[in-house]
Amino acid sequence: MTLIEQIRESIERPFLLYEEKYKALLSTDNSLLAEIFAHISANRGKQLRPMLAMLCAELCYGCNNKTISSAAALEVIHTASLIHDDVVDMSAQRRGRESVNYKWSNKIAVLAGDFLLTRAIREIIGLRNQEITNIILSMAGSLAVGEIEELHHNSSMWISEKQYLEVIRHKTAMLFAACAECGAVSAGASAKQQSALRSYGENLGLCFQMKDDELDFSDSEEIGKPRMSDVRDGKATLPLIVSLERAPRFESDEIKRLSEQPFTADTEQEIKSFVLRYDGLRYARQRMEEYRGKALEALSAFRESTCKDSLISLLNYSINRLY
Ligand code: FPP
Ligand code: MG
Repeated sequence: MTLIEQIRESIERPFLLYEEKYKALLSTDNSLLAEIFAHISANRGKQLRPMLAMLCAELCYGCNNKTISSAAALEVIHTASLIHDDVVDMSAQRRGRESVNYKWSNKIAVLAGDFLLTRAIREIIGLRNQEITNIILSMAGSLAVGEIEELHHNSSMWISEKQYLEVIRHKTAMLFAACAECGAVSAGASAKQQSALRSYGENLGLCFQMKDDELDFSDSEEIGKPRMSDVRDGKATLPLIVSLERAPRFESDEIKRLSEQPFTADTEQEIKSFVLRYDGLRYARQRMEEYRGKALEALSAFRESTCKDSLISLLNYSINRLY
């Protein structure tokens, strides 16, 4: 049994209800949308975000209908954001399959994402819970802000670590934070529990994105998208940012010049060995460990339980995964 399957087992019953709800949110009479959703549902990913919401609810006073609806709405927003992200990044692949924009078109992808957003909003409004509505809608705004900040920095490879952290906080960590917080709120957590779980989720999200960015430099075929796609797209992530800061100016200038040229296998190799030479990957790993420590600290006030163990496993999985 994989670690993810083990974690899922600790929330087996709510997970089944979540799956039903998620499917219901994607059901439609429109044949093209149905075809698109069948295509993306063939490889749905690991469902870490809804699992996080359900585990946090279980850690407090247990999952209920509000938890299931929030978890499904959050996963639907995540799905919509990836469809839109592939338009923004002009990606041809997602999870080893053709992206929606590539298989159909940009226009169709934007509209399919919009449709999903309306489904998620309808589900959230149906909960009649002001706090959950606020958490989810302000997070959705953050996702867009993160993408805009990233695009804005794209014109320059010289972004700072601080700017990088702001981008990943907005585009990824806020969604993890919202999942954890909605799980807590749905289960009637105290203000202290709510803020601890939000902090756990945010730090987990930072680790998750830093790992994603590290994997872009790996040789693994399993990641389901082309390697070095961040550099190719003009995105400098932490391993490269720190290497550019550490290297002598003439060398950083040369790497920057290379990254602006049409990308070849030689460019890929040169940038990768530059990052290895300046220990960029090791530095990113150390930073990840720091955020892992903060996430663990946030969990420390909760008593030992299977769900707490699962949250710790989720954190460890996020920084040790191979894809
Ligand atoms: C993947 O990042 C993308 C995100 C984490 C966020 C995408 C958000 C938007 C497009 C804003 C739209 C907002 C809503 C609410 C629909 P990545 O490109 O670094 O990772 P990847 O390699 O998986 O594509
Ligand atoms: Mg992308």
